[in-house]
Amino acid sequence: MGHGGNVIDELVTDHREVEELFGKIEALPPGHKDRKLYADQATIELVRHSVAEEAYLYPAVREHVANGDALADRELRDHAEAEQMMKDLEGCDAGDAEFDRLIGMLMSEIREHIADEEQNLFPLLRAACGPEELDRLGDKIRQAKKTAPTRPHPAAPDKPPANKLLAPGAGMVDRLRDALSGRGKAD
Ligand SMILES: [Fe+2]
Repeated sequence: MGHGGNVIDELVTDHREVEELFGKIEALPPGHKDRKLYADQATIELVRHSVAEEAYLYPAVREHVANGDALADRELRDHAEAEQMMKDLEGCDAGDAEFDRLIGMLMSEIREHIADEEQNLFPLLRAACGPEELDRLGDKIRQAKKTAPTRPHPAAPDKPPANKLLAPGAGMVDRLRDALSGRGKAD
């Protein structure tokens, strides 16, 4: 399934892509250098997904769903925890024992987030919003994710800012979040 459709279809597609990356990490033996590569790709996907959800999904949940504030607040807490794990992962090499510990924690945290959204939050939003609103939010979310480059690639542009943004290593999560959310820019 490709990207497109309403907000729920779009975010579920993101979830499947992240699960695919997790599967690739788990299929490799501990210490394999590509585990770090896939972890960086998952981090990029997850930051884009989080920023888009924070900009458009959770405000809609607060507006349309009964008890939506509490639901949105819980999801935001989960995002903050996952983001801290991704920041801690930035400094680890695939060969570090700490890498294995953190990636294990991150995968279980994200899998819980995915199950929670798909089993609880999305059905509530679908019941509370009309199809036009869900489609409109889908367009907004796609727009938000397009604002920054997608993932490091051998053919990635080698001039700033894209190469700086996507260069793995310390600060990647913050650089991505700033670029995607416009954080730090005067508004
Ligand atoms: Fe999500």
